[in-house]
Amino acid sequence: MTYSEAGALLARHGQEHVLASWDTLTRDAQAALLKQIDSLDFTTLAAMKAILAQPPAAPSDPEPGAALSPAPAERRAAAEHGAAALRQGKVGVILVAGGQGTRLGFDGPKGTYAIGPLSRASLFEIHARKIAALERRFGADVPFYIMTSEINDAATRAFFHDHGNFGLSAARVKFFIQGMLPALFPDGRLVMETAGRLFMGPDGHGGILQALQRTGMLQDMRQRGLDTLFYFQVDNPLVEIADPAFLGLHRDRQAQFSLKVCAKRDPAEGLGVIARRGTSGLAIVEYTELTPEQKAARTPGGDLQFKFGSVAIHIFSLDFLTATAKAGLPLHTAHKKVPCFDGGRIIAPDKPNVFKFEKFIFDALPLAERALALEFDRAEEFSPVKNATGSDSPDTTRRDISRKFARWLDAGGIRVPRNEAGDPAFFIEIDPRYASCPEDLKRRLPKGFAVTGDTWLR
Ligand code: UTP
Repeated sequence: MTYSEAGALLARHGQEHVLASWDTLTRDAQAALLKQIDSLDFTTLAAMKAILAQPPAAPSDPEPGAALSPAPAERRAAAEHGAAALRQGKVGVILVAGGQGTRLGFDGPKGTYAIGPLSRASLFEIHARKIAALERRFGADVPFYIMTSEINDAATRAFFHDHGNFGLSAARVKFFIQGMLPALFPDGRLVMETAGRLFMGPDGHGGILQALQRTGMLQDMRQRGLDTLFYFQVDNPLVEIADPAFLGLHRDRQAQFSLKVCAKRDPAEGLGVIARRGTSGLAIVEYTELTPEQKAARTPGGDLQFKFGSVAIHIFSLDFLTATAKAGLPLHTAHKKVPCFDGGRIIAPDKPNVFKFEKFIFDALPLAERALALEFDRAEEFSPVKNATGSDSPDTTRRDISRKFARWLDAGGIRVPRNEAGDPAFFIEIDPRYASCPEDLKRRLPKGFAVTGDTWLR
């Protein structure tokens, strides 16, 4: 693309300001800017501008969605079926790790954050070790697909490389990069990061649908004989990756999109809830879409009506991912404070000044003809690292790791000293390769084992 072609294109879309500082740029910066302009998708840009001009109409009123809570016998049978699929090498794992972790405020990919209370193992290491444990337990390959963004891809790959892929075979750890989207000022103009560069951000975890196809990952999955993909987010070290019972239920019911849901902590907790809209199937309704009355409404039994929050633990059939790869998921806006270049100078805003756009994976849920929501116990499987302090922070996650493993020790008949609040008096951590469930742990613990201080079993 030449300068004059770029100028004409931008003028047609009311974006002439992008080239306003052209004469001040080095030749390399000019070339890079032309390349950025060339890669812009002006159809999407028009859709983004239209959303700012007129936000999409609020969808019809949601009805609460139900979740499955299978009886122990059904759960055991499902776990057998899930285990069989793992043994047959039909299951792969997808991790979305392309986010920027702004709230945590940590320099580097969030997955490199050292969360292990005693091991200081990173989030990535904990996830990878669980996959290594699955491969050993089921005697089959469990390919690991990791979505990064242009911003953190190199650092993520280097981290895995420097740690020998945490014991996983390099042939089965596949990185793929999600797409990027520009940001807009409220008046619809493209945001510039510097005089010569457009501001671009990752296109949201919903960008995975297109990214899987564009990068050849769907084909890779098919070639390896996979048909079921377990999906999770980088910030939750408690996740039970490829939980056999969840896999079995998903497969037994021939679901296309399954999700684990848990009771919300309180009406104000910012989780999307499962719901039904009109006659269509399950959907996730964002926290912000519910009125205060809907959030607080209770059933006669005292439960929240919109009780079940989604924590982004999903299973997809490969056929569903393939069929929806081209689905245009809706764009969501976020009004953010973004330092940028405008009017010939760098601006450091003190309040939100631009709109960023993202796609969310759960918007694919209504596209599934067969979907399943499974209730789970959040204490066992969900404690995300979102914030630097307070709730959902490293402190609460480390506490929840200790609590979970203390319960495993309790189940094995080991007494774990507790403090006055009922919490373990020490940090407890168990390497996934040492034991991957309470039964496993019970078998492995040496005779006479006792907890007398911080305890790291590995
Ligand atoms: P969050 O919505 O918590 O965002 O992402 P984040 O980027 O990690 O953190 P904040 O909001 O900036 O503080 C949930 C999961 O989705 C992934 C994240 O890496 C995380 O695993 N994600 C998010 C992507 O892979 N790509 C994105 O564009 C956004």
